[in-house]
Amino acid sequence: MGKKTEFLYLSEQDTMDAGVLDCQKCIDNAEEIFTLLSKGDYLMGGSNHNGHGYGLVFPKTSPFPNMPVAGPDRRFVAMPAYLGGRFDVCGCKWYGSNVANRDKGLPRSVLTVTLNDKDTGEPLSFMSANLLSAARTGAVPGVASRHLARKDSEVVTVLGCGQINRSCLRNIAHELPKVRQVVCYDLFKSAAEGFADFVKKELGLDVLVQMDLEQALHDADVITAAASRLQPLHINDAWIRPGATLLITGPVLMDDSYWQSTRLVYDNIGLHQAYVQEAIESGDRDAYYSGIIGGQIYRLIDQGKMPALEDSTSLGEVILNEKAGRTSNEERVTFVACGMATFDVGLAFDLYHTALEKGIGQKLLLWDSPYQS
Ligand SMILES: NC(=O)c1ccc[n+]([C@@H]2O[C@H](COP(=O)([O-])OP(=O)(O)OC[C@H]3O[C@@H](n4cnc5c(N)ncnc54)[C@H](O)[C@@H]3O)[C@@H](O)[C@H]2O)c1
Repeated sequence: MGKKTEFLYLSEQDTMDAGVLDCQKCIDNAEEIFTLLSKGDYLMGGSNHNGHGYGLVFPKTSPFPNMPVAGPDRRFVAMPAYLGGRFDVCGCKWYGSNVANRDKGLPRSVLTVTLNDKDTGEPLSFMSANLLSAARTGAVPGVASRHLARKDSEVVTVLGCGQINRSCLRNIAHELPKVRQVVCYDLFKSAAEGFADFVKKELGLDVLVQMDLEQALHDADVITAAASRLQPLHINDAWIRPGATLLITGPVLMDDSYWQSTRLVYDNIGLHQAYVQEAIESGDRDAYYSGIIGGQIYRLIDQGKMPALEDSTSLGEVILNEKAGRTSNEERVTFVACGMATFDVGLAFDLYHTALEKGIGQKLLLWDSPYQS
């Protein structure tokens, strides 16, 4: 007789009941993960252990009528990770994305996370991960706000008024209690207005829709950039005031002089080194750089105009007091986050354990005894 295996299934509502919308829980979880990243107690995919994920890229055309073809934001991506420390678990986020989903009453991407025993590979839990993924993405600038932003920050400007920035703002506001006003900027006024409604209803803050980018940035103490790639978001150096904290979650183009004058903190230097390595291996470094969040920075590093990645600072080092974060109220501090599966696995792990403790979710049987044992 072999071993019985069960795993815990968590629906979206179950993840809510287990605390996926609890900012304190998610920020504390992400902060702990940053320290593990800094110590190197994690693995992601690929031989460099820092691969962001592995995608199915669809061809422009296909002779096979059922084969998916390329479309806006259309892809499947798997993001595996091992996370150490008290987590000591493997897992994978897997999602499909298709802009056409919106006409079917679905979110653009549909995400799930599986957690696995690191030794046997047995599934521990399979869960809905749309909220989880947004929560972990927003918790990351939440941690950065905790450690890098001025505590007296009052005005937050939101660049790109989508779902990800809703989560970023929730977490930023949670960490900065003096925030009183949110300025919403988007290519589309309807998106900015929808976001403003969310700010009023959910966060109860004063809100302003501003369709001029320079004006939107004028009073910003904190800027959260999470726009999609519809059109480049280009920000002039002079538009960012002294003392501001720029939290980058989506693509943004800054003047070179901004990058050269800001204090820059990365989410995980190993990840950025892996991006540069992948750019070199791609054979067209410039084209590769153009498609990724940190591309502009890597170009300046290659040109010797910014410090090398190995001489730079990661947020984990700031949390562990190994390197300086913000050193004055006047300096402009920028935090760059590219998204890592470690955060999906780490948050999924805590939700799974809360669910076990509270009896949330449904145990499902993989087998009473494996047929092949
Ligand atoms: N770093 C991470 O961990 C992570 C994780 C998930 C998503 N993301 C990124 O976050 C971004 C936002 O994702 P989302 O799901 O909220 O997308 P979304 O499509 O729901 O919203 C994005 C918004 O950005 C706006 N926008 C696009 N270009 C703009 C521009 N030039 N100026 C102003 N607004 C602009 C769009 O109109 C839209 O309202 C994407 O770039 C995505 O890749 C990052």
